[in-house]
Amino acid sequence: MLHTGRHFLQIPGPTNVPDRILRAMDRPVIDHRGPELPAVTAEILEGLQRVFKTRGPVVIYPSSGTGAAEAALVNTLSAGDRVLVFETGHFSNVWRALAVRMGLVIEDVPGNWRRGASPAELEDHLRADSSHAIKAVIVVHNETSTGVASRLSDLRRAMDAARHPALLIVDAVSSLASMDFRQDEWQVDVTVCGSQKGLMLPPGLGFNAISKKALAANQSARLPRSYWDWDDMLAQNRIGFFPYTPATNLLFALREALHMLEEEGLEHVFRRHDRHAAASRAAVQAWGLEIVCEEPREYSSSMTAFYTPAGHDADRLRTVILENFDVSLGTGLSKLAGRVVRIGHLGAFNDVMLAGTLAGIELGLRLAGVPHKDGGIMAALESLTSMAQAVRVG
Ligand SMILES: Cc1ncc(COP(=O)(O)O)c(C=O)c1O
Repeated sequence: MLHTGRHFLQIPGPTNVPDRILRAMDRPVIDHRGPELPAVTAEILEGLQRVFKTRGPVVIYPSSGTGAAEAALVNTLSAGDRVLVFETGHFSNVWRALAVRMGLVIEDVPGNWRRGASPAELEDHLRADSSHAIKAVIVVHNETSTGVASRLSDLRRAMDAARHPALLIVDAVSSLASMDFRQDEWQVDVTVCGSQKGLMLPPGLGFNAISKKALAANQSARLPRSYWDWDDMLAQNRIGFFPYTPATNLLFALREALHMLEEEGLEHVFRRHDRHAAASRAAVQAWGLEIVCEEPREYSSSMTAFYTPAGHDADRLRTVILENFDVSLGTGLSKLAGRVVRIGHLGAFNDVMLAGTLAGIELGLRLAGVPHKDGGIMAALESLTSMAQAVRVG
């Protein structure tokens, strides 16, 4: 079908890349061992520390988020180490599979894919582990398959209450630069991220933010690593370079993205995402459809997932919306395939883009004959209006 105007890329990442960022990377490739790179490296590594809210090092890989997840494990653990993995959805299962392949022993905390990691269960597991066999706890901050955000500050408190020394490894792929995240305050040991979500970049960069404790664990960790090795990376970063060819044009893009985040102010960025999430939920609820997240304290601010009514395939609805209105929405992953539609409202985004996205969905619900009530758009606009003053003043 022929489409006019702009495509709406409203999957929960990759997200829309602002023109400013596209222009910043549209430049000749530079010599990655030449004189231009060190100043860029220094600026972006410092900027990233402010986004992760850490004084520790952040490393950048030319990789997707999954590569950065592998880097987190191989740099801190040894074969046979026990890791606690909360089942929050598809992406926690990806972590679990990765850990199994690395030869780690998994302690599972099962979940229903509608709630975040439970602080009480975490404390119970850690208290029961008096020999401190568990070496790391793995939590997906924002489970992109469900739109459920785990409460990291409460999880940290649970670890402290149990006085357990396990590392806390957090996947912030779809939360960083969209939702409140505090590496140092929450004593996260390794944060894993990718470029294509809140950072508003194309796919292609992976990140590890590393605590002192994780650096110490690195010294005794025995999993094989070469490409992902922190030591090589940190040594080269100190002089402004990388141990192998970095994705140079993406680094220029990242520098611009960091400028944009600083201009808006991170706290404003978070409130903007909160507003768009609240308005999206208002629309879904007005349509009479069910949000996947069943715990309001754990609603994601970067995306919203909802079920289609039984007997109405979610992917058929998505296809109708894409083909007719040129709006891309996220598909249901693993066991949610065909049951769930995911609306991405993160990254470079505004009220009118949200209204357009929701209009595409409401039109699609009508066209596809999915039973729903009218009024979702109106509910979203009311939500945006009611929350606007709190944000815009000043
Ligand atoms: C929470 C989460 N973790 C990990 C990943 C994997 O990242 P990538 O696809 O960049 O490897 C994703 C990707 O969407 C994600 O949303």
